[in-house]
Amino acid sequence: MEVIILPTAEEASEVAARLVARQIREKPDSTLGLATGGTPCKLYQLLVRMHQAEGLDFSRVSTFNLDEYIGLDPSHPASYHRVMEVDFFSQVNIARERSHIPDGMAKDVRAHCASYERAIKDAGGIDLQVLGLGSDGHLGFNEPGSSLASHTRIKTLTERTRSDNERFFTDGHEVPHHVITMGLGNIMESRMCLLLAFGIGKAQAVAASVEGPVTASVPGSLLQFHPRAKVLLDAESASLLIRSDYYQWVYKNKPIWQTHL
Ligand code: GLP
Repeated sequence: MEVIILPTAEEASEVAARLVARQIREKPDSTLGLATGGTPCKLYQLLVRMHQAEGLDFSRVSTFNLDEYIGLDPSHPASYHRVMEVDFFSQVNIARERSHIPDGMAKDVRAHCASYERAIKDAGGIDLQVLGLGSDGHLGFNEPGSSLASHTRIKTLTERTRSDNERFFTDGHEVPHHVITMGLGNIMESRMCLLLAFGIGKAQAVAASVEGPVTASVPGSLLQFHPRAKVLLDAESASLLIRSDYYQWVYKNKPIWQTHL
């Protein structure tokens, strides 16, 4: 796990954007795993800017979003279909037939999850997985207690996550209880993970994920077993880390052959 702490979310998002751009330039037909929520918004804005200003080319990229609410039509303003379309897909040259998001309106959820898994395999697996972190340590919508080997399936949200996400809904009661989410197994199978977490509200979940024991009670901690995971933090979300000075020294003093940005 490489822990990168920068003063602001903006600066950390810039590093994330450069890493995603490098992935696409090195492998133009990359498969990206994408996240939603407030955390990656700046990253998407920066990628849009790179597309417009530098011609960053998404035409051969495939994407798989982590999750979607069950029962929300893709036109619902809080559905991840709508959010991804407005914030990202409509602003870059990504092929819609290669942009995948779980279907929250699927009649047969189990069959849909199986076909989502097949599509990920057919796309060659995920090269780079973008992740946010729930205040309870969840990844995607894998709430505490999720199987560490899980794949795409239905999950039930905790009240904490429903209340965290109320801000995206005009009426908090509307937040669905059920979701489809890629599993922790999917995340572990991706070739590289970029976990982003910003703000003081994430400090405990970050400390538990990065420096706590690996446990299903904190899904983010599973990344300690990932061979290539980078954790991008701002000063607030990193504020409870015991080895924060060390991580910062390491990042500032990378040998030249190891600097890739
Ligand atoms: C949401 C999403 C996650 C996201 C996390 C953090 O519920 N399903 O993929 O990473 O919770 O959300 P936010 O970035 O808004 O804090």
